[in-house]
Amino acid sequence: MGEKRSSFSGQVGFVLAAAGSAVGVGNIWRFPYLAAKDGGGLFLLIYIILVVTFGSTLLISDLAIGRKTKLSSIYAYDKVKKGWKFLGVITFFVPTLIMTYYAVIGGWITKYVTIYLSGGGHKAASNGYFNGFITSKMAPICFAIFFLAATSVIVYMGVEKGIEAASKFIMPILFVIIIGIAIFSLTLKYTGTDPVTGKEMTRTGLDGLKIYVFPDFDGLTVQRFFQILLDAMSQLFFSLSVAMGIMITYGSYVKDDVNLNKAAGQIELFDSIVAIFAGMMIIPAVYVFMGMDGMSAGPGLIFISLPKVFEAMGSAGTVVAVVFFVMVAFAALTSCVSVLETIVANCMELFHAPRQKVTAICTVLYTAASVIICLGYNVFYFEKTLPNGSVGQLLDIMDYISNNFLMPITSLLSAILIGWIVKPKWVIDEVTKNGEDYKRRYIYSFMIKFVVPVVMFILFLQSIGVFDHIRNFIVGLF
Ligand code: PHE
Repeated sequence: MGEKRSSFSGQVGFVLAAAGSAVGVGNIWRFPYLAAKDGGGLFLLIYIILVVTFGSTLLISDLAIGRKTKLSSIYAYDKVKKGWKFLGVITFFVPTLIMTYYAVIGGWITKYVTIYLSGGGHKAASNGYFNGFITSKMAPICFAIFFLAATSVIVYMGVEKGIEAASKFIMPILFVIIIGIAIFSLTLKYTGTDPVTGKEMTRTGLDGLKIYVFPDFDGLTVQRFFQILLDAMSQLFFSLSVAMGIMITYGSYVKDDVNLNKAAGQIELFDSIVAIFAGMMIIPAVYVFMGMDGMSAGPGLIFISLPKVFEAMGSAGTVVAVVFFVMVAFAALTSCVSVLETIVANCMELFHAPRQKVTAICTVLYTAASVIICLGYNVFYFEKTLPNGSVGQLLDIMDYISNNFLMPITSLLSAILIGWIVKPKWVIDEVTKNGEDYKRRYIYSFMIKFVVPVVMFILFLQSIGVFDHIRNFIVGLF
């Protein structure tokens, strides 16, 4: 290639860019929804334990592979160990698939920004609005293309001038907004008649906070605990953008004097704080205005439940809604940038082509892909039952293959490669190469050799529905 490899300017730029990738719809939408479903504080506790054990192991491994090889996944794995290029290729497929639908979701969020800006908030709160929008023919396509264009411009501008500059601007703002709305959410109050008892009652934001932070052990069975653990685990993966080559690519842009262990810690901290505050922002608000029923909204939480909450807030609701959706759009943008960057970086190495050309070609291809995904809700509509029992359309299938199927496989194989073939020392040497202190090295070795492979294998079996088959089989015997 001959060209000097691009890099982030230093630790701060890198941490913010990586946090930009990590903080996304997963933190703001998926995390609060899982916490509400999985017993509040109990989920929080398990999640935090997983972040410092699993999260840091996976993140450090990806970053070290990237920085040591200075390559993106396809060639990086080949350089770690001859013959392991196939793992790089599997890893490359994850962002390739995610990119087909990420701009579509970004487009939905952008649509909500515009609807609140134009004063149409009450429409968004009406029943069936969201479904009506995503099943319409033109609008979702236009918004997705707009979002993809914004992403492409940033990637086109390169690592330091595009990605780092955008993240340095966006991430601090996002952080302040989320804390602001979370505090506002705690001050909310609603008085009305309880539909069940018919009595007058008041619900406050602080009541909602209690539901969120106090562990709920009611009806906790071994099976349910296991389910919460798996939910927290898959959330962690998705949230930290690990096991998809993204952190390998970002790691390859990190200068040699950066303390990787410290940087990884800061990325995890940023990501977890945003997730925890997102829960503090959403759960009390939904609880105050919708009670426990609002909590079961699941994936529709931000597009269906929240507009109703904003409506109930009165005139302040519109302002909060605009600020909220702008923030989510920003969070999604920096994540989408990291997905496209990873694809572009791999292709630049693969085809020895310049960034601008590769970005342009990828943009054209993904415009087509986004259009197809949008049409998955009307022209190409079908209902497919996935191996884990949920029913989905095109978008859900892409999401399923990348997150539930490929990601456990990549981290399983990657843990085997590091833990057993090149040995954990390979990573530890990279992390401590400037004499850095890495106290957790023993935990790291233990995790990558034993815990990660076993758990990934279980996660993989769960996602292809093996446990359900076994249960059905046993139930069938009696
Ligand atoms: N980590 C992002 C989040 O928490 C999601 C993401 C997934 C980003 C895959 C990039 C790639 O939302």
